[in-house]
Amino acid sequence: MQAIIYANYGGPEVLELREIDPPKVSDGEVLIDVHYTSVNPIDWKLREGLYASILKFDFPVVPGWDVAGVVKETGASVSKFAPGDRVYGMTVSDPLGIGTYAEQTLGREDVLALAPQNLSLREAAAVPLVATSAHDSLFRLGKLHAGQRVLIQQGAGGVGSMAIQLAKAAGAFVYSTCSTRNLEYVASFGADRVIDYTAEDFVEVIAATDPDGLDFVLDGVGGETFRKSHQVVKPGGILVTMGDFPDETMAKEHEIRSIFLDATANGMLLAELTAKIERGEIALPEITELPLSEAAEAQRRSQTGHVRGKIVLNCGEI
Ligand SMILES: NC(=O)c1ccc[n+]([C@@H]2O[C@H](COP(=O)([O-])OP(=O)(O)OC[C@H]3O[C@@H](n4cnc5c(N)ncnc54)[C@H](OP(=O)(O)O)[C@@H]3O)[C@@H](O)[C@H]2O)c1
Repeated sequence: MQAIIYANYGGPEVLELREIDPPKVSDGEVLIDVHYTSVNPIDWKLREGLYASILKFDFPVVPGWDVAGVVKETGASVSKFAPGDRVYGMTVSDPLGIGTYAEQTLGREDVLALAPQNLSLREAAAVPLVATSAHDSLFRLGKLHAGQRVLIQQGAGGVGSMAIQLAKAAGAFVYSTCSTRNLEYVASFGADRVIDYTAEDFVEVIAATDPDGLDFVLDGVGGETFRKSHQVVKPGGILVTMGDFPDETMAKEHEIRSIFLDATANGMLLAELTAKIERGEIALPEITELPLSEAAEAQRRSQTGHVRGKIVLNCGEI
């Protein structure tokens, strides 16, 4: 089968389209004909070697965690899915090796769900990692509830667009940040106050209306934005960080909890999110499609930090 691989850590140029053996299905696993995958920042962070000391890699690595496709074959003991089913999910092999930038991939039964009936597989591929991350941040870690006031950094990104909608549906007041060109786009997901970070200081904007601070902040920008995010969380509040690791000294100084997101693939959660999508309660991020052969270009764009919505790769038309 055709797949994108990298044999060593490095820049986007290490990504190559190659003919490789298709993976073999084992007990509890599903072999999927991949129609679409989507590009997430973790894909290029892994390729650059940023997590080389934390995660195990089995080179050559096929990148990619998001998949939307059709079940080809099921392993022994798989009972939820059958050949021909349209499925989607976030699949992470351990060690990292068999990813989703390929014509076929494997997923454990417990991380997959039937794809939403009202979505194409192109649209479905954009959902699993970002929706799971948003839900885990807000509810598993943030314990968000109605009436709380929150800031979602990066409203124009994949996770941000999902987090705004889930927080609004839970009854929160939502501030979100983006650059000027994305103001309307971010407002379309229901954010109450969209802050243009190129023209306004989010700390000042929030201090004017919420001088006591917010209950919850989600940040994946990192660096200065991460450090300043501490200032807008009220004592006892929660800062979930997706980019930088928590800084315990700063968290203590501000009397807040700073927690690193560990988005966890979960087929049952994905099935709940599927039901919300089918009921029209979650709108999709904007989607840009590229062929699988342009994976390097897709990761270059992701690496700029300014993709609006999601990039999906068409693995059926290489
Ligand atoms: N730890 C985990 O489990 C986990 C899970 C998911 C994601 N993450 C991490 O979380 C981060 C976000 O993920 P993602 O998929 O949402 O990324 P993404 O889709 O690539 O985010 C891109 C968006 O970030 C916005 N942005 C860039 N700089 C900004 C700034 N200073 N302030 C506000 N917005 C800014 C851009 O909007 P503008 O063009 O308008 O600037 C762009 O639309 C990434 O670092 C990712 O690796 C971690």
